[in-house]
Order: sequence, then C-alpha cells, then structure tokens
Amino acid sequence: MTVLILDDEVNFTEELQEYLEIKDFEAFTANTPAEGFKILQKKTIDLMILDVRLPGMSGIEILKDVKQTYPDMEVIIVSGHGDMDTVIQAMRNGAIDYLRKPFRHLDIQIAIERTQKYLKLFHKYKEMKNRSSLISLDLEQRIQRNFIGESKIIKEVLNLAITASQYPYTNVLITGESGTGKENVARIIHYSSPNKENAFVAVNSSAVPETLLESEFFGHKKGSFTGAIGDKSGFFEVANQGTLFLDEIADMPFNLQAKLLRALEEKRVSRIGGSEEINVELRIISATNHVVHDLVEQKKFRLDLLHRLNTVEIHIPPLRQRKEDIPLLLDFFLKEFAGKMNKTIPIYNPTLIDHLASYNFPGNVRELRNMVERAMIFQKGKELSAADFPLKDSIKKQVSHNDVNLNIEENEKRLIIIALERCDYNQNNASQILGISRDALVRRLKKYDIRIQKAM
Ligand SMILES: Nc1ncnc2c1ncn2[C@@H]1O[C@H](COP(=O)(O)OP(=O)(O)OP(=O)(O)O)[C@@H](O)[C@H]1O
Ligand SMILES: [Mg+2]
Repeated sequence: MTVLILDDEVNFTEELQEYLEIKDFEAFTANTPAEGFKILQKKTIDLMILDVRLPGMSGIEILKDVKQTYPDMEVIIVSGHGDMDTVIQAMRNGAIDYLRKPFRHLDIQIAIERTQKYLKLFHKYKEMKNRSSLISLDLEQRIQRNFIGESKIIKEVLNLAITASQYPYTNVLITGESGTGKENVARIIHYSSPNKENAFVAVNSSAVPETLLESEFFGHKKGSFTGAIGDKSGFFEVANQGTLFLDEIADMPFNLQAKLLRALEEKRVSRIGGSEEINVELRIISATNHVVHDLVEQKKFRLDLLHRLNTVEIHIPPLRQRKEDIPLLLDFFLKEFAGKMNKTIPIYNPTLIDHLASYNFPGNVRELRNMVERAMIFQKGKELSAADFPLKDSIKKQVSHNDVNLNIEENEKRLIIIALERCDYNQNNASQILGISRDALVRRLKKYDIRIQKAM
C-alpha cells in the first residue's frame, strides 16, 4: 500500500513517514499542495493523509480535486481541535476517515487498517461485478445474435419469449417440430429474465436411465442406494431461483411426472434418503416436438402436470411456413461456419434462395444449418450455388395439404428453377420438359428475375 502525507509541518510528515515505513508501507511526503500533486502524477497512491488546514489552499478543495482525478484513492483527513464542521464537510466529499491532531501513532494505524479492509472488500466486489457483467453481457449478445428471423411469425415468438422472461417463476411450454429452435428460445427466456445470474439447467430425460432419474431430479444422501457414494444435489436444488429446462417431456416416465407435480405444488424437495426439506422456487421451461394433447390422450403425459407447465405456451412454426427467414439464416450460418472453418464467407448465386425456398425442410433450421456446413466442407470455388445444396425429394415430402404452397406464380417460378437445374441450365431442354416454348420460358425468366449461371 502506498501512502502520501500532505502536511505543511515538516516535522510531522517526516515522523509519520518513518513510522509508516517501519510498518512496511511505502510512504511519500509533501509539504505544499504543488509538491503533493507532483507525486500523485508520478505514483499510484492508495491512500492520502491530508491536512485540511494548509496555508494558501483549502484542504476541502484539494480533497474534492483529488477525489475527482483519482477516484480509487482513499483520503484520511487530519484536522485541528474544534474543527468539526470541516470534518463533516470532508466526509461528505468522500474522505474515508479523519484524525484529530494531536494523535497517537496507534490512531493512525487503526485508521489505515480500517481503510485497508475496506479497500480489499471493495476491490473484490468490483472484480466480481465486472466478471458477472462480462459473463452476462457476452451471453446476452450471443443469444440475441443467435436467434435469427424477421418473419412476422418469428417476431411474435420472440415477443412472447421476452414477455414471459420478465416473470421469473412463470412456467413456459415450447412446442414445435424438431430443429425449430426450441432450446434456443428456452435460453433466450432464461437469459433475459431478472434471474439470469442463476442457473439454467437443461435436462433431457431420455438421456438418463429411468432408475437414476429420481435421484437426478431430487438428489440423494450418501448410502441411500447402491451407488450413492456421496451426497448429491438434484436438478431442482441446482436450478433453484433459476430455470429448469425439461427437454422432450414426452420421454419423461409417467411415475416421475407425479413426483415432479408434487414438488412443483409444494415448492419443496427432499433428497432421496434425506429427511430435510429444501424450499425451491424456479421456472420450468419444457419442450416437446409432439402435439401435447395427443400425448395426454395416449396417456404418455399427465394432464394435471401439463396444466402446471403450460402457463405460457409458445409454438414455433416450422421453417417451411416462414421461408422469408431463409436468406437471413443462410447468411448467418455461412458466416458462422466461415468463422469455424477459418474460410472467407462464400458468395452465392441468387437462384440458391429460390432453390432452398422450394424445399419443405422437414428438419427445419437444424437441417438448413447442416446443409450449409456440408456445402462449405465440399465447397470448390468462391461461389456456392443450388448444386451445392442437394435436396431430399422435396416435393414428395410435403406431408399435408395444409403445407402445400398454392400460390400459382411462386409454384411456376419454382418449377422453372427445378427444370433448369435438371437440364444443367440448358434453356431448350428446360422449356421442353416444362411444356412451353423457349420464348415463353425466356419471358418468365425475366418476369421472375431468374438469372442463369453459365459455369456450372
Ligand atoms: N432462429 C434461429 N436462428 C439461429 N439458429 C437457429 C434458429 N433456430 C434454430 N437454430 C439452430 O438450429 C439448431 C437446432 O435448434 P434447437 O436445438 O434449439 O432445436 P429444437 O427445437 O430444440 O430441436 P429438437 O426438438 O430436435 O431438440 C441449433 O443449432 C440452433 O442454434
Ligand atoms: Mg432440442
């Protein structure tokens, strides 16, 4: 710890310096404000001992000055007898302590020790605050950037998620086909909530053997069953005050569901083999790619538990119902994999978008992401095109009539692109399989702004 003593009495400063050096402080002295400022400019001073009655300049002014320039430096002021007003003024201006002259060495030692203790705590606090704000900032940024989509549908999903996030103990059920981003949305809810500093625990019950599930959820005491070698806290305890994410609730064994329901109702859990009860209050976000009411009908899921879990329900529609998000997602994943593979971000032929839009994406966003990864692994030149994104039987896979795109112009455009691809972009052949004249094809190419790339 470095200390600066500013006092016009030479004897006083020298004596105090000697004493502080014996006590292992690095001490500097100054007898005029100018000398003091010079030292402050050159050295990092942790603590200043400042006489408030200096000739020429008010000590309070100096105090205000140095606290502004060096906010991390603490100041102990030294005042004369009967100077209480000055002391009060000094404390109001940020002095940490005061000493009244004459004082014993012991007094200054106690004041310094107190200051040291305070500084230590303060530094620790600042460090922790920085660290946690860094973590959450980083996560927040990652999460926000990660959920891509400008379609009305996706904006609605995000709005619902953000609204729900503000109520930290409200349960949310997220439904949607595989790969639609359910886990992403669950994380967005947690990391936008006032409880974001607490744990987000993701549980996939199909990944844990059924016999162990109960102890995973509720924890156990040492020796409560074979294999319980030590005390263990369960998901509920770990996620207390935070979020427990139950992925694919259809895989949750029926008898565990009853135990979960009880824990949620009582807001209390006890470890297996333990008698002590622990209060828990948390948010449960659950997800499924099944139609929940079918699950209830098939007796795979308890209706009473469902009613606890679906206070807010968020449905994420499949990618084929929000194709306007495809270009954004494509750009996002190209950038992501360029970073991961240490490549430059590829450019692509505009027809690629139509090519992708003609597909129904049974695997949703995950499938698109995988396609991009694959295309970039096998990428030859600088440019990607439809040929780098082979589609699996796109038209046949359109499952129900509800999903069939009935827009005639969009379908015409799509058929033209498919025909062109099939004929390696030979317009004569393409017009033949389309059953129209070559002129008619050319007119439509113009109309739909389909550009033919030569170098295939
Ligand atoms: N809107 C989106 N923006 C960016 N990435 C997305 C988006 N939606 C999904 N993804 C990505 O797609 C992949 C699948 O998402 P996620 O794991 O959240 O899907 P899921 O709905 O939980 O699927 P499953 O039911 O199969 O578990 C992840 O890599 C995720 O980051
Ligand atoms: Mg998932």
